[in-house]
Amino acid sequence: MLSFRQILVKKINNKRAKVAVIGLGYVGLPLAVEFADKGSFVYGIDIDKKKIAMLKQGKSYIQDIPSATLKGVLKNKLFNPSSDYGNLTHADIIIISVPTPLTKTREPDISYVVNAAREIKDNIRRGQLIILESTTYPGTTEEVLLPLFSQRGLKVGVDFFLAFSPERIDPANKTFNTANITKIVGGITKDCAYLTRLIYSKIISKVVMVSDSKVAEMAKLLENTFRAVNIGLINEFALMCDKLKVNIWEVIEAAETKPFGFMPFYPGPGLGGHCLPIDPLYLSWKSRLHGFEPRLIELASQINSYMPTHVVNKTVELIDTRCKLPVSQAKILVAGVSYKKDVCDVRESPAIEIIRMFMEKQAKVSYYDPFVSQISLDDKTLHSIKFTKENIRGNDCVVIVTNHSKIDYNLILKNADLIFDTRNVYKNINNPKVIRL
Ligand SMILES: NC(=O)c1ccc[n+]([C@@H]2O[C@H](COP(=O)([O-])OP(=O)(O)OC[C@H]3O[C@@H](n4cnc5c(N)ncnc54)[C@H](O)[C@@H]3O)[C@@H](O)[C@H]2O)c1
Repeated sequence: MLSFRQILVKKINNKRAKVAVIGLGYVGLPLAVEFADKGSFVYGIDIDKKKIAMLKQGKSYIQDIPSATLKGVLKNKLFNPSSDYGNLTHADIIIISVPTPLTKTREPDISYVVNAAREIKDNIRRGQLIILESTTYPGTTEEVLLPLFSQRGLKVGVDFFLAFSPERIDPANKTFNTANITKIVGGITKDCAYLTRLIYSKIISKVVMVSDSKVAEMAKLLENTFRAVNIGLINEFALMCDKLKVNIWEVIEAAETKPFGFMPFYPGPGLGGHCLPIDPLYLSWKSRLHGFEPRLIELASQINSYMPTHVVNKTVELIDTRCKLPVSQAKILVAGVSYKKDVCDVRESPAIEIIRMFMEKQAKVSYYDPFVSQISLDDKTLHSIKFTKENIRGNDCVVIVTNHSKIDYNLILKNADLIFDTRNVYKNINNPKVIRL
């Protein structure tokens, strides 16, 4: 009789293995569509009924997934989006890609992962491979998921398989996507890792196996902490350069001429998104439980979270000195509100905090973002203005917060009296009305 491992290998190689993806957001939807596009049958499961309704109609809500691709996999009957966890019983491979945010006290909130895992536990059958993709603290797969799935007397590596494989997708990146970003897999047992590599290698060009799930969990946190700490360092340099009246952007360009040992990072109005401001704190929380207080993570987080305040303080100072106006009488236009270039995601975006602070100072604030038609701030809703010269002209200062490629920066330059550029979009422009971070 074939073992469950052998059955799964056969099914994966014959493209008969059915995949279920739980959580169809920025990570889960591209992954589900990629599997379906390459010929696997995929159950997409999400608790958000609005998203499921859109998917069923072939309407994509993720920028990087064209509706035409979605319609193609629906037409071929390879993608079945629903909120029905009962479908999990029919799947051979179950991938979890639900959110991992912070609680109000800024501690890891893995309740979404646990809720999804409980549903898996209720539907688990022998021979399934379960993969966690959500970014989380080291030990989650082994300490939280494994005991849950083992409760029914199932033996990992024999009756079912369990692995962690971090997602590295970079929304709006035109070069790197689900299929060509190298993937790391770490299993609870060697067979768990082997099977995980086998299934991903059907859709991803390079898959690297590491010795266990903790290494894979830690590797993802190293990648994101590396970025967060280096951005913290360059933001600190920007703050020092501001005091010393040195152009930070030129300093970076100069340092970058060194052919080895330097990698450029850029300062900005603050960190945003679902990864960099959050993931390092998952690691420091876990580390603290083990008696080690990480210092660099905390320090970088403090510097990065100070940046929106710095942007507001500098703008207030500029309006005061250049326009001879108290900020409470000023009109400010914020250009770009999503957390990074060319995406519509406003999660943790520094622009939201910046706008809130301007409003608290009684300034009249409007915003323009070609990707974000409205934003919510506490009980208020703001709508993106029409991008016209009249709307630019009516302001005392334009603050460039997000450097979308679609924004016409020339129109701003021609029509604004004062511009605070936090992203160096006016790199080669020497104009006294442009002040850089
Ligand atoms: N967004 C990125 O660029 C990115 C990159 C790498 C890793 N990650 C990680 O991937 C994970 C998912 O992030 P995301 O950006 O895709 O989040 P997201 O909010 O875009 O999507 C998550 C989806 O999960 C659904 N969901 C929540 N609980 C559920 C449940 N119990 N059952 C079924 N569906 C459920 C939500 O409705 C949502 O549609 C996070 O851990 C994140 O840190 C994100």
